[in-house]
Amino acid sequence: MITVGIDLGTSGVKILAMDQTGKILKIVTREYPLYQSGNDSEQDPDDWWKQTVDGLCELTSEFKDIDAVSFSGQMHGLVVLDEENKVLRRAMLWNDQRTGSQCDYLNNEIGRDKLIEHTANVALTGFTLPKILWMKEHEPELFARITKVMLPKDYLAYKLSGQFATDESDASGTLLLDVSKRAWSPFMLDIAGLKEGRLPKVYPSSAAIGTVTAQAAQETGLSEKTIVVIGGGDQAVGAVGTGTVSGGMCSLSIGTSGVVFVAGDEFAVDRGTSAVHSFCHSNGRYHMMGVTLGAAASTKWWLEDILGTKDYSQEQIAIKSSDLGNNTVYYLPYLSGERTPINDPYARGAFVGMATYTNRSHMTQAVLEGVAYSLRDNLEAIKNMGVTCTSARIIGGGAKSPLWCQIMANVLNLRVDKINSDEGPAFGAAILAAVGAKAFTSVEDACNKLISVTQSFTPDPEAVARYEKHYPIYNNLYKSLAGTFSAISKL
Ligand code: XUL
Repeated sequence: MITVGIDLGTSGVKILAMDQTGKILKIVTREYPLYQSGNDSEQDPDDWWKQTVDGLCELTSEFKDIDAVSFSGQMHGLVVLDEENKVLRRAMLWNDQRTGSQCDYLNNEIGRDKLIEHTANVALTGFTLPKILWMKEHEPELFARITKVMLPKDYLAYKLSGQFATDESDASGTLLLDVSKRAWSPFMLDIAGLKEGRLPKVYPSSAAIGTVTAQAAQETGLSEKTIVVIGGGDQAVGAVGTGTVSGGMCSLSIGTSGVVFVAGDEFAVDRGTSAVHSFCHSNGRYHMMGVTLGAAASTKWWLEDILGTKDYSQEQIAIKSSDLGNNTVYYLPYLSGERTPINDPYARGAFVGMATYTNRSHMTQAVLEGVAYSLRDNLEAIKNMGVTCTSARIIGGGAKSPLWCQIMANVLNLRVDKINSDEGPAFGAAILAAVGAKAFTSVEDACNKLISVTQSFTPDPEAVARYEKHYPIYNNLYKSLAGTFSAISKL
């Protein structure tokens, strides 16, 4: 059996073919434009589709018999279609920050308690409902023409299968789903001003929703018999790709954003003010996660845009293990505002603590450590819900740096494990496709058979003790600077 995972990311789409033993047969990537200005971050869903078709054609020219495809999608993006099923406007993405006032309305006037009661989450600028409210307010003519609302990967599933469908994990990030019941919340649909028929049918992530349409088969080279499995949001599917599926297991994802993800057998909710996301998992259960928006986005900004280099490892060579926990330069990674735990779209990046002897590598180290401290904030917020973790599986571009993995292990005081595949979300999607095509009895069964730990980074007790002294200093920085960030946002 050959299954394909389509990971619809922000910088491009990655299409991965694997066999039933988990062997990766081929990976194809395609890119598309990202339109960013000020607080806005958008992409054209038809660019996603065109590039996916192009990538699938390359794959199907080599592999004819693909049994099933599934998806991992960038979450929260608002895709809206008109009466002719055409895209009404560019999709507003997960990192779009224009909805501050809609979130204030939801959190303060509807109220956090009501939102938690109906959705298990509070409003964050990245989520989908604030974007719907923004459209209603700023583009009423377009809003009136909406016939279908969907998430990014659901658009690909729709084009491929003709089915108007989504899954529980991705739907959890809309603020329209009652996460504990795994169904759209009538209370939240009322706030959105949308009838339930405008939203897709909600399936478990490993559900087969249909097969490839005749037209899509012609365009992509897939067969009309290829099963389309709905898949899920990139975090839940990425966690499947690391085998983070049993209750209490933890994963760290160091992509553009950084995520601490904990799988939960039972539904749990953060009733505090830390903005821990409480979502459905792609294995039919639940998960909690904390999200820092600027993880690999911070290293990319610092190394590529500021230092002008793409040689990440060369830049890290001067940082020795004895330097870990001895840096007095601090970096706040809030280049795009922040979600967990501060939920502040106006927060910004900062370097603090430089002296005349500070050099380039102290600054680079500070960036790596700032992201790790920010993930520690996320872990602490999740621990406050009564969860304990002793190890975490790491994925994402940042996991390629052994130095960064060791910094994570020391700052979070967790054993950090690498696994036999680096392809997290695309691999997870191929696994969901295989489960949907009945090659495995469950997501857990597939993960147990296909995923194993290959390398571990153990916390160094001396470095851990040193970092313990720095973390409270880091932790105070946002508190000291919040007023400054708010003043900057009003300029
Ligand atoms: C998760 C999140 C990101 C995006 C983009 O809540 O916003 O993971 O899905 O990757």
